[in-house]
Amino acid sequence: MSDTKPAIVNTQQEQFWNDVAGPLWVAAEDQTERQTAPFGEAALARAAPAPGEAVLDVGCGCGATTAALAVAAGVAGRVVGVDLSAPMLARAAQRVADQPGVAQVEFRRVDAQVADLGPDAFDLVFSRFGVMFFADPVAGFGNLRRALAPGGRLVFVCWQTPTANPWMAVVNRGAAEIYGLEAPPHDAPGPFSLADRSRLERILKAAGFVEVEVAPHELVLHLGAGQPVGDWVHERLMMGPARTMYLEESPDRQREVRDLLSVRVDPFRIDAADLTAGLELPAAAWIVEARAR
Ligand SMILES: C[S@@+](CC[C@H](N)C(=O)[O-])C[C@H]1O[C@@H](n2cnc3c(N)ncnc32)[C@H](O)[C@@H]1O
Repeated sequence: MSDTKPAIVNTQQEQFWNDVAGPLWVAAEDQTERQTAPFGEAALARAAPAPGEAVLDVGCGCGATTAALAVAAGVAGRVVGVDLSAPMLARAAQRVADQPGVAQVEFRRVDAQVADLGPDAFDLVFSRFGVMFFADPVAGFGNLRRALAPGGRLVFVCWQTPTANPWMAVVNRGAAEIYGLEAPPHDAPGPFSLADRSRLERILKAAGFVEVEVAPHELVLHLGAGQPVGDWVHERLMMGPARTMYLEESPDRQREVRDLLSVRVDPFRIDAADLTAGLELPAAAWIVEARAR
């Protein structure tokens, strides 16, 4: 029997982020940035990457934070972005090539739960919403801890519960009711797998981190401006768990579903008289910092 670790263990996530979500995220980059950038900026401020540091960006996706980390680390620093998704990494590489002042960046298509990333290779491990998808989170965070030099810091941002995130949950829950989808277990890999604060702290401690600090970061996202509410609902459906079922519907039924869900979004409209004024939707994340022993 071989004792070589498999290159990718999160194969369902690999399939999802390569074949389904990756191409959507690349195509809808402006939209996803509006949703995640305010949280990423807060996490970057907390991480305070310094010139000369070696930084790992986990689940770097289309590379927005990798580029920001590289600017901060400067020519004397080094940034590695890792992700499962080939289309998102291709976009990330293009972004870095197009952006002046970004040096010393490398992208690797690996599974961060098991990839050989170290040992002791980084001063900072950072992630914007890229660490909630490990099938074995203790193993995943343990692998990230081994990649850090002793005393190195882990800083990431992850979502709080669906209830605290109406910007995602209003459409997802409504669609789940329409299509009879059951909610996944709260600890299943996915956007909300680290929402339970005490579980999150337990995972990080079991993975060998110390000085674990979890701080709420809550704000109101202004989304969907300049488009009819139904179009915004459509975008959310395309990113959500009911995507396949919605896509299989006739155009008339799709319109009906969008209308049903638009009613749920009504309370969040900025201006009841103007369908394109946009929505104000609460969003809540945890900003997490910890140190490697
Ligand atoms: C919600 S997206 C966030 C992307 C990016 N950090 C951002 O904020 O735009 C999650 C990212 O994590 C990546 N990912 C999920 N599981 C992973 C794993 N085990 N190893 C590496 N990347 C992973 C996905 O491919 C995806 O790009």
